[in-house]
Formats: sequence, C-alpha cells, structure tokens
Amino acid sequence: MQGALYGEEGFYRRGERPTAHFRTSVHASTRFAGALARLLTEIDASLGHPPRVDLVDVGAGCGRLPLQIMAAVTPGLAARIVPTAVEVAPRPDELPAGVAWRAEPPAEITGMVVANEWLDNVPLDVVELTPRGPRVMLVDPATGAERPGQRPADDDREWLDRWWPLREPGDRAEVGLPRCLAWGSVVGRMRRGVAVAVDYAHSRGSRPATGTLTGYRDGHVVPPVPDGSCDITAHVALDACAAHGVKAGADATLLTTQRSALRALGVTGAKPPIELAHQDPQAYVAALCAAGEEAELIDPLGLGGFGWLAQAVGTALPESLTGAHPAEA
Ligand SMILES: C[S@@+](CC[C@H](N)C(=O)[O-])C[C@H]1O[C@@H](n2cnc3c(N)ncnc32)[C@H](O)[C@@H]1O
Repeated sequence: MQGALYGEEGFYRRGERPTAHFRTSVHASTRFAGALARLLTEIDASLGHPPRVDLVDVGAGCGRLPLQIMAAVTPGLAARIVPTAVEVAPRPDELPAGVAWRAEPPAEITGMVVANEWLDNVPLDVVELTPRGPRVMLVDPATGAERPGQRPADDDREWLDRWWPLREPGDRAEVGLPRCLAWGSVVGRMRRGVAVAVDYAHSRGSRPATGTLTGYRDGHVVPPVPDGSCDITAHVALDACAAHGVKAGADATLLTTQRSALRALGVTGAKPPIELAHQDPQAYVAALCAAGEEAELIDPLGLGGFGWLAQAVGTALPESLTGAHPAEA
C-alpha cells in the first residue's frame, strides 16, 4: 500500500488528484468549508485573537480547502491566517503562492488542523486469523493473489488485542497503528488549538469482520490491488486515533459523526420557505441549491455518516461543537 500510493510511481506521488476518482466533502460543497470557518472563528476567539493563526490542511489533495475557509471568515481573521497544505503529491500550478505546500506538518501549530479523508489513505497491513494464528496478508501486485505471510509484529498485535480483536478463523483486521501514530504526531505539534480528522470510520463495537479495504479508480470501486493504478483506502478506527491524540497531549476530545457536527455548526439542509419563490425567485433557487448541497454533506448514508474526531490542545473544544452527539463506542 505504501509503494502503490506513495512510491516513486505511486498513485498519489505521481500527482493523481482525488477529484478525478471520488468525491470528498471539500468538492461536494463550499458549505463544508463554511462550517469549518465557523469553527476556526470560535477557535480564534478562544485563543484570544493571536497575531498568527495557523490553518493546516493535512492530506490536502488539491489544496483548495484552506482558500475556501479563508474566503468564509472575516477579513480581519483571514489576514492573520497562515495557510499550509500538507501533501505528498506535487503542488498544483494554479494554487496561489500564499498557501504553503509541504510534505510534513509544521513543527508547531497554533490554530486549526483539518485532515479530511487523510487517515484512510495512511497505509496499513491486513491481518487474518488463520488456523495457525494471525498472519499478515501478502498480495502479489501483478495478479492480486493473496497468501498469508509472517506473524504480525508485537506492537501490531497489541494494537489488535486492544482495538480490533480477531475471533473466528477467516476474520480480518486492518491494523490501524500507523494511522494512530500519524494522528498522534499531528496532535503532538499543536501548541494551542483544535485538530479535526474527518473520515469514514468504525469503532470498537462495530468493526467489520472482513475489513473495508477498497480500491477506487475513475469514480469506480475496483479490487484493492496495490499496483499503483488505483487509490487504496480502508475505514479508520477513529476511536483508536483519539486515544493516541490524548497520549500526544489532547486536553479534550469529541468523537461524533459529520452529520451531527455539521448540524451543530448550522448546516441543516433546511429548504427555504415556498413564499420566497414568489417574493424573490432567484433567491429561492439559490437557497434551494444550498439546501441540496447541505443535504449531501449531512446524508447519514453518505458523507454525513463519516466520523469527526476533534481534539483540543491548550484550549477548550469550540462551544458550538458541544451540541454534537458523541458517537457510540
Ligand atoms: C483522499 S485524498 C483527500 C484530499 C482532500 N483532503 C479532500 O478532502 O479532497 C488524501 C490525500 O492525502 C495525501 N496524503 C496521504 N498521506 C500523506 C502524508 N503522510 N503526508 C501528506 N499527504 C498525504 C494523499 O496524497 C492524498 O492527496
């Protein structure tokens, strides 16, 4: 997975952009950025309006999100924001020079981090419980043929015992330790502020018995063969990432769904009143479009079913998020 996505000729390393293959909340609607702008405005207030506010987009794809967020905050706040896109893919030519582009998050962050659909692309191993015990599955990138390989390393076994116990022969788990470490490393760089990870997720009480590893190419689901021709992704054990965030210094944690978080931030999908169609048809159509976009973002069977992990360091979680319902364990 590491080589297929990020090796020399890897899918992302060579510059494939998510828009060509699937649709994330960033591309579904700028109302996603609008909600994050509300969050950043609250974070800025709770930090006491510092002269520099970091806005770090990890796994930034095309780097559009920080610009959308800056367009949605007040000019006063926008002028203090230092936007950074963290991405292994090459910098897009059209991205304005004001957005920094780097392969690693800044060492110190005061402000907000957003990682939308990043962690599901952090490579991991698949372990299957065989009659001879748990084994790491090996895949031939030429044919997609699988066979059991070595025993998982001790730290992976510990992770599995705690977060994804295998019960029956044939059960498979996706060992989320690299994602936990990646997320912990981001939270560990926060001096003050809030880090938000948004991804398709599962929790300890509801891990899928055969895993979630999936391939995407040109908008279609394809077998997840690690040959560099497709995106390879697996749902994220966000509850485990949260625990690593706490270890890395998070003072407060919220684990919820995108639907619940966005509704708390005012994204409701409510249709405009029909009277508006008579008074101001153009405004009515615009409001109807906005409602449709919001509905896509909060659809419980789609993007709304994604997990949101928000962790605050050196400050409280934004008050508006306290209206979001915690996810079930
Ligand atoms: C599914 S895309 C999401 C893009 C964007 N956030 C969006 O919502 O449209 C995941 C992105 O994360 C990037 N990525 C994965 N691991 C990374 C890492 N360790 N450092 C920087 N970027 C990474 C990939 O190159 C890819 O562009």
